[in-house]
Amino acid sequence: MAKGEAGVQEQTQTALAVIDQRTGRAYELPVAEGAIRAMDLRQIKTDDHDFGVLSYDPAFLNTASCRSAITYIDGDQGILRYRGYPIEQLAEDATFLEVAWLLRHGELPDREQYAQWVHDVTYHTYVHENIKNFLTGFRYDAHPMSMLCSTVAALSSFYPNSKNIHDPEERNLSIIRLIAKVPTLAAFIYRHIKGLPFVYPDNDLSYVENFLSMVARMSEPRYESRPVFTRATEVLFILHADHEQNCSTTAVRAVGSSHADPFSAVAAGIAALYGPLHGGANEAVLRMIGQIGHPKNVPAFIEGVKSGSGQRLMGFGHRVYKSYDPRARIVKRLADEVFKEVGMDKDLEIALELERIALSDDYFVSRKLYPNVDFYTGLIYRSMKFPTDFFTVLFAIARTAGWLAQWEEMLLDKEQKIARPRQLYVGYDERPYRSTLHP
Ligand code: CMC
Repeated sequence: MAKGEAGVQEQTQTALAVIDQRTGRAYELPVAEGAIRAMDLRQIKTDDHDFGVLSYDPAFLNTASCRSAITYIDGDQGILRYRGYPIEQLAEDATFLEVAWLLRHGELPDREQYAQWVHDVTYHTYVHENIKNFLTGFRYDAHPMSMLCSTVAALSSFYPNSKNIHDPEERNLSIIRLIAKVPTLAAFIYRHIKGLPFVYPDNDLSYVENFLSMVARMSEPRYESRPVFTRATEVLFILHADHEQNCSTTAVRAVGSSHADPFSAVAAGIAALYGPLHGGANEAVLRMIGQIGHPKNVPAFIEGVKSGSGQRLMGFGHRVYKSYDPRARIVKRLADEVFKEVGMDKDLEIALELERIALSDDYFVSRKLYPNVDFYTGLIYRSMKFPTDFFTVLFAIARTAGWLAQWEEMLLDKEQKIARPRQLYVGYDERPYRSTLHP
């Protein structure tokens, strides 16, 4: 695929010559940006009554559902860029809010824009008091992702104007509100699980510091998080901020395509992220490590995975990355920094042993299964004393920025319509109804 100076894909127009062997007819299907348009297949018919050829692609293995300028991934080379900026550079030097702005607007904010953005987000961190009543209705042991999903959906009822998705001002306000309030909701959920009083936002703190304060502050007048934890959270939020058309982003875009309000669309993203094959993997990694129990049990565990006993090596493999996940490399370094300060952990030893054996085992190497971002994030979060089932909530806070950038891009894309895939019907042909209740 050719790239222009600004990195924008150039339209290299060529065509695919297709011969329909059923009819002997020839067709030319234009190829642009490495893709044919699935709708061009419709003209290929056996006769006038034929619907035309469909493309069948369960789980979208080879289907681009949109054109996007937000995140670039090269899965074979292990490259991830937000708006052209390498993830390694952003993780090193940027703040999460800078990245959130970048994802949405396409350019880095200047000083004035950044100051206004930080001010706007900080100003909207409080949630309506009724949200507290809503949250306290959950049992103390409810899964935090269920609580987050429902509470974000509930926010839409507080902001009925957010339905005006074609009004740029309303969209802007909803985006600010979501990025500002999701950490507050997440922290309230944490305090609810722990049976602790809710801590209100401290608007003199940075985005990450304020979140950690709402989570951990007790009687001290101002909470000061450990710098290594603040930095680790900022970096992990940046790494998780977007990842192009993954399962949860696809859910946000699909729900948003019906013109539902953004709170409902983001709640759908949270629901998708909850699953263990997606954001729930960081939680699953720690459970798996707990189950292994000791580094000496790793070889037997790996054998179990290879024998197809049903257990996967959680935190390994990726639909897109077929070489090292670049985020995993950054997270591993970050884990080293954190563990240098808080001390080595038995589970980290198990993780290192799992990685060592898997990376030299032909089963994993031949299938291009490498550690993904979730392999080490859980270990870092646990060293910060977050409960295991809270990890995916931390992922969701960060991904909210990406979901909203993708949601707005979808709304402004003239080619997009309500998401509505086709199916290949494989059920019964017409048959007469005969009740089996009253033979
Ligand atoms: N452990 C063992 N075998 C695996 C694994 C794994 N983690 N992942 C894939 N395989 C095998 C799979 O059994 C299959 O083998 P075979 O060809 O013999 O049938 C082959 O590799 C291809 O697997 P696939 O299921 O077709 O691959 P996929 O692209 O559909 O799945 C995945 C991608 C991420 C769902 C999968 O690798 C997986 O389940 N990984 C563990 C869960 C995980 O860590 N998820 C986090 C993903 S990254 C962050 C995020 O998305 O939120």
